[in-house]
Amino acid sequence: MPAQILRGAGLSSRLRDEIEHSIQALAAAGGPAPRLATVLIGNDASSEAYRSSLERTMARVGIDHLRIDLPASTSPLDFTCQVKELNRNSGVTGVLVFMPLPPRLSPAIVQEHLSPLKDVDGITPTNAGRLHMGLPSLRPSTPQGGLELLDHYGIEIEGRHAVVIGRSNVVGRPFASLLMQRHATVTICHRRTVDLAALARTADILASAAGHAGLVDANMVKPGATVLDFGVNVANDKIVGDVDFEQVTEVAGAITPVPGGTGPVTALVLARNTVAAGFAAISGNLDHVEMVKAASNPMSAPLG
Ligand SMILES: NC(=O)c1ccc[n+]([C@@H]2O[C@H](COP(=O)([O-])OP(=O)(O)OC[C@H]3O[C@@H](n4cnc5c(N)ncnc54)[C@H](OP(=O)(O)O)[C@@H]3O)[C@@H](O)[C@H]2O)c1
Repeated sequence: MPAQILRGAGLSSRLRDEIEHSIQALAAAGGPAPRLATVLIGNDASSEAYRSSLERTMARVGIDHLRIDLPASTSPLDFTCQVKELNRNSGVTGVLVFMPLPPRLSPAIVQEHLSPLKDVDGITPTNAGRLHMGLPSLRPSTPQGGLELLDHYGIEIEGRHAVVIGRSNVVGRPFASLLMQRHATVTICHRRTVDLAALARTADILASAAGHAGLVDANMVKPGATVLDFGVNVANDKIVGDVDFEQVTEVAGAITPVPGGTGPVTALVLARNTVAAGFAAISGNLDHVEMVKAASNPMSAPLG
């Protein structure tokens, strides 16, 4: 039997509702209007495409978007000043800097200087550390969206063996941490993993965040497993994931398509984080940011 298709659209309307309610709750609490600043240095084509799709999502959910474009020749000092200026700008609640940066600029500039209260993709040491410790934090939007997609479709996590391909700070590593917090047993794989296929075949939940088209084929998937494809690759002028979708749907129990799986959820979680960052701006800490999800639930405690 072909796999169940886990489409992001199934979860999107709930996320849009959550965002709408939390924007109202933020205004009622006297907070700022949520506004996302995106910083693009140089003209990386995939970052441009990602930004356009984010811009559409933000417009749809009523969040203002500020574009900041800097030349590829920007010096480390000027870039650091720009990041610090955004930290001080009270009209901006969230900041996203597109990666990869030009070679002369280190991602450490963002990690070290961006305020954790505005770090809507959870890349600063404060947010990453809090995530790994299980404390409230602004969580990286792609893995958080992946987790919510599993929950939306009722995929069991506790006690399952999850194999995550990829160990970056924005996708693979935080996804592994989130799954472990939900009591999965997690194996993280990377380029130097020996016999990736054999490990992948042991997974009840197999997630790929490698950025390598065709990496996961049917021989790497245990029959009935759930396959989450975070990869976004261009092959033959088409957007494809890391998973050979045609083959793997015949083996897996459930699978996310690319496009249309994890991607649309990522943008909405980022939008929700931008509102959550508004609450962090009021309180001056990250202790309540995860309550934004609960703001749409009338039975939940008020945000503070
Ligand atoms: N769906 C979404 O919304 C969304 C959002 C963000 C990113 N993405 C996509 O997700 C993918 C990963 O992004 P990223 O930022 O995490 O990329 P990244 O920083 O390049 O990390 C890729 C990871 O995959 C591992 N890897 C690459 N090729 C591999 C292979 N052949 N076998 C085993 N491991 C391999 C790398 O291992 P090493 O550590 O050993 O190098 C690395 O840990 C990309 O396609 C990106 O476009 C999707």
